Order: sequence, then C-alpha cells, then structure tokens
Amino acid sequence: MLIDPFLTGNPKAAITPDKVDCDIVCVTHGHGDHLGDAAAIAKRTGATVASILEISNYLAKSGAKTVGFNVGGTARVNETSITLVPAIHSSSIESGGMEFSTACPVGMVIDTGKPVYHAGDTSLFSDMKLIGDLFKPQVAMLPIGDFFTMGPVQAAAAVKLIRPKIVIPMHYGTFPVIDADPKLFESLTRKQSKAKVVILKPGESLEV
Ligand code: NI
Repeated sequence: MLIDPFLTGNPKAAITPDKVDCDIVCVTHGHGDHLGDAAAIAKRTGATVASILEISNYLAKSGAKTVGFNVGGTARVNETSITLVPAIHSSSIESGGMEFSTACPVGMVIDTGKPVYHAGDTSLFSDMKLIGDLFKPQVAMLPIGDFFTMGPVQAAAAVKLIRPKIVIPMHYGTFPVIDADPKLFESLTRKQSKAKVVILKPGESLEV
C-alpha cells in the first residue's frame, strides 16, 4: 500500500514512481504533494486508489481503478479495511494552471489486523481522542512540519489524545518552509505520553 505517493518532484523521494509496486494507493487529499503520482502508479500496477468520492471520480476519468467513499465510511479493499476520518486542512486539485477546491481532506484508519492511523495533513483537533478510543491505533502517523499542518507542539499534544503504541512523524523536511525538527517532537512527546517515537529516513522501514 502507498499513501500519498508524491515522488516526482519530491527532493527527498528515495524511489521513482516507475519502480514502486503496490495493490492499494491511498490519497488523503488533492494537493500536489499528496495526490502526486497516484494516477500513474495505479494505472501501471493495477492498484486500487482509495480516496474521498470526488478525488476518486477525478482519478477514475484517467483510467485508474478506484474506490470512492466519504468521511465516516469504511471500505474494504482487498483484505484491508480503510476508514476515512476527519482532517482539518484544505484540498484542491491543479488542472490547466488553475487550482480547483475539491471535497474535504481526510485522515485514514487502515486496518490489516493492526490499526494504523494516518492523519493526512491536519491541525490538532479534539476528536482525535475519539479516533484513539474507537480504533485504538497501534501506530499513528502525524504531520509535524508546521506552516501547512500542525507543528511539533500540536503533534505531541495529538499523541496524548490518540494514545498509539508507536508514532511516526511525517510531512517535514521536504521543503525549507516545513523544516521542523523530529527530535523536538520526540522530546515533547516523551514528556506527555508513553508512545514510542520512530523517526524514519526516506527509504527506511519499520516492521510492526
Ligand atoms: Ni495539503
């Protein structure tokens, strides 16, 4: 599974879109650094794109196999259950040099037996506690880059609400404007939560 495969034009990408293989591509919202290479990868690999309905309809027009659903809903794709949950952010798709507002951004709870909460791009919001209560995610992937999403302080507070076993910071360091320090996030999290912070470099992996 790929989530938000922004590879072409990503200065930190460890792989090119023609080299990846997957069965499912999840897209949290339409911004170029998330939608990225989703359509090209889905068409080449035959993977199913899971996203909110409007983005799904957009990608289906390019010939990708899609599942389009909406916030609060769960779709089963292959053997994986994917639930769309709220994210507080914006969403748009660029086309013909214009920027079109599209649907709402989402986070995703992805469950293959071990629930993972991928927050997408978001600020902190108190319903993250409900996501923690209901889905009990073992792993949470949270943006920490600030400027376009929450930064390290808000993200550490989010960990307290979600209570995952493991938290992986994401959405930082790609561009100078989101150059947040994952070590700061780690130390802030350690002060208020038992979650283990795992800082991954591009191309690194974690077995859960
Ligand atoms: Ni975004």
